[in-house]
Amino acid sequence: MATTLISGGTVVSATGRVLADVLVDGETIAAVLAPGSTLLGHDLAGSVDRVIDATGRYVIPGGVDAHTHMELPFGGTAASDTFETGTRAAAWGGTTTIIDFAVQRAGERVEDGLAAWHAKAAGRCAIDYAFHQIIGGVDDASLRAMESLVDEGITSYKLFMAYPGVFYSDDAQILRAMQKAADLGLLTMMHAENGPAIDVLAAQLVEAGRTDPYFHGIARAWQLEEEATHRAIMLADLTKAPLYVVHVSAKQAVAQLAWARDNGANVFGETCPQYLYLSLEDQLGAPGFEGAKWVCSTPLRSREEGHQHHMWQALRTNDIQMVSTDHCPFCMKGQKELGVGDFRAIPNGIGSVEHRMDLMYQGVVTGELTLERWVELTSTTPARMFGLHGRKGVIAPGADADVVVYDPNGHTSIGVGETHHMNMDHSAWEGYEIDGHVDVVLSRGLVVVDDEGYHGRPGHGAFVRRGLSQYLV
Ligand code: URP
Ligand code: ZN
Ligand code: ZN
Ligand code: ZN
Repeated sequence: MATTLISGGTVVSATGRVLADVLVDGETIAAVLAPGSTLLGHDLAGSVDRVIDATGRYVIPGGVDAHTHMELPFGGTAASDTFETGTRAAAWGGTTTIIDFAVQRAGERVEDGLAAWHAKAAGRCAIDYAFHQIIGGVDDASLRAMESLVDEGITSYKLFMAYPGVFYSDDAQILRAMQKAADLGLLTMMHAENGPAIDVLAAQLVEAGRTDPYFHGIARAWQLEEEATHRAIMLADLTKAPLYVVHVSAKQAVAQLAWARDNGANVFGETCPQYLYLSLEDQLGAPGFEGAKWVCSTPLRSREEGHQHHMWQALRTNDIQMVSTDHCPFCMKGQKELGVGDFRAIPNGIGSVEHRMDLMYQGVVTGELTLERWVELTSTTPARMFGLHGRKGVIAPGADADVVVYDPNGHTSIGVGETHHMNMDHSAWEGYEIDGHVDVVLSRGLVVVDDEGYHGRPGHGAFVRRGLSQYLV
């Protein structure tokens, strides 16, 4: 098995930073050592197969993106990144584990949905991957099927209070699923938006000729995110089910999470880079149909109302614990453009899996986050939240050698074409300039990205069976 020494860098964890050398033996980290350490009198650098000089750079655990949708069927089309293209792009950006969502819809068997996801991903991923289970049709059969999920290494599942007729669960279904999840120790992930109310508002807007992409965000009003978040919290409290609210964008929803947590509830929240940087005003200002690039749910919120500012604050105060991408890419051509003349037909989603580590590092550059909090939000907490602790999210002996060498003096231009690797014909992040650069990426000991380019291969990434969340008591 090959040995690698990552020497001279500053190893950053969720709790601190230290100048150290990291010794990798095969697929795992063997030791974290004082710089220049010797082993039984031997110079380490001279006795390993490869030395990566990390002087002047940060050495961090590879990113864990706990919310992606490769190949998700949506709105008559499917997300444009396959597991092959999406995990390659993730690797380029310093993410070494994704947790994607296997899909079950009403009338389908959960087992079949999960098997279909395994078939899509197996042999194709450049980095390790795991699954959550979407339960899009809560009934006796799907509730029974939830009993096998923990044995399958799937310890979290997602319900939708939005998208009636597609993935939607009503309150009775949510209550039943949460009762089951509480029994099993599964973490309930919630898309918290009041879908039936949104659909009425959206129909009224289209009826009035307000069909542009911007009106997607008007129909999905913050009141309907706040209300659904509150309802989810109360149903979780009643059933004693731990709750994780995905893609939080409204400051009022954050207040609900903070209130629940202050009352001792096992309630967690995730936000995404788009809710920290992009705004409804950006979407309104975009020419023609361009605003479709930023159609996602929950929607972008008004900067004038201060949601973005509040979200950064929530990351500091731990009212929000994690940042995932909700990577759900669609091309403009043939996909987003399905919604020309009716925003309801625009497939929902933004592609960011490649940019999360860089975009969040900007929070360090601007003083919004500490270096340690950057690592915690993007790697350590996602691993602990979703039962990957020990293997992922840390640089420690015995952990998988998923390591990123990050250059704080480097530079990354985000855009289209050659400058990103996601399978998209545009970028929601075009023009973003990053102070920082992902220089080297190791996935279970294999160097997948370095100065010379990309060395990953489909099938190197393995399915990871997850344990129960470390956050559940
Ligand atoms: O716009 C989004 N978020 N698309 C993906 C599906 C979801 O709700 O997460
Ligand atoms: Zn969602
Ligand atoms: Zn999603
Ligand atoms: Zn560099």
